[in-house]
Amino acid sequence: MIKACIFDLDGVIVDTAKYHYLAWKELAKGLNFNFTKKDNERLKGVSRMRSLDILLEIGKKDLDEETKLKFAENKNKKYLEYILKMTPDEILPGVIDFLEELQSKNIKIALGSASKNAMTILNQLKLKDYFEVIIDGTKVSKAKPDPEVFLKATQELNVKPEECIVFEDAEAGIEAAINGGVKCVGIGSPENLGKANYVTEGFENVSFKKIIELLN
Ligand code: BG6
Ligand code: MG
Repeated sequence: MIKACIFDLDGVIVDTAKYHYLAWKELAKGLNFNFTKKDNERLKGVSRMRSLDILLEIGKKDLDEETKLKFAENKNKKYLEYILKMTPDEILPGVIDFLEELQSKNIKIALGSASKNAMTILNQLKLKDYFEVIIDGTKVSKAKPDPEVFLKATQELNVKPEECIVFEDAEAGIEAAINGGVKCVGIGSPENLGKANYVTEGFENVSFKKIIELLN
């Protein structure tokens, strides 16, 4: 029986990829190379430092650790400028209805995100109160596809992994759910998220009831 749902944040509840993209692009420009939208796809679900490594690999730049930390901090400053302007209008379609359906059915709700900015984003979107447990990038030491983020959420919710469903838009996140023994719904296209137990474009016209039927 499903007792809880764990949501990734970026790409599931809100489209922050466009802001990450703008901030990384600015950084790449400062280093004299171009960073494309296609390149940005590689950063979905990937931690901030790993994202920087991928970016530098694309630009063929080699930096020492200290400089890398400074660059990551600068990128985050730019990113924060964008996310501090976000409003609840940016919550993806169907998300609120879905969360309210879960509440009405006494299904527990948690966040499982790699982002260290998750609290800021949830505050901007006025969504924090929906989440009983919030595990974000400040609380984990191992990045997805390691299941740590989701398993910590199940522990804090006091449920077993097999009693949960994870909602994820990134391949690394789907693998993290699988590695933790948690069922997983992919948010996006089946092309990239084929490993998920079920894939949907988003939460519009999707109910918890329907998902349970499809997963059974
Ligand atoms: C993930 C995003 O949720 O969080 C990644 O999909 C991002 O693109 C990662 O790099 C870390 O985010 P932040 O906010 O801590 O830089
Ligand atoms: Mg995501």
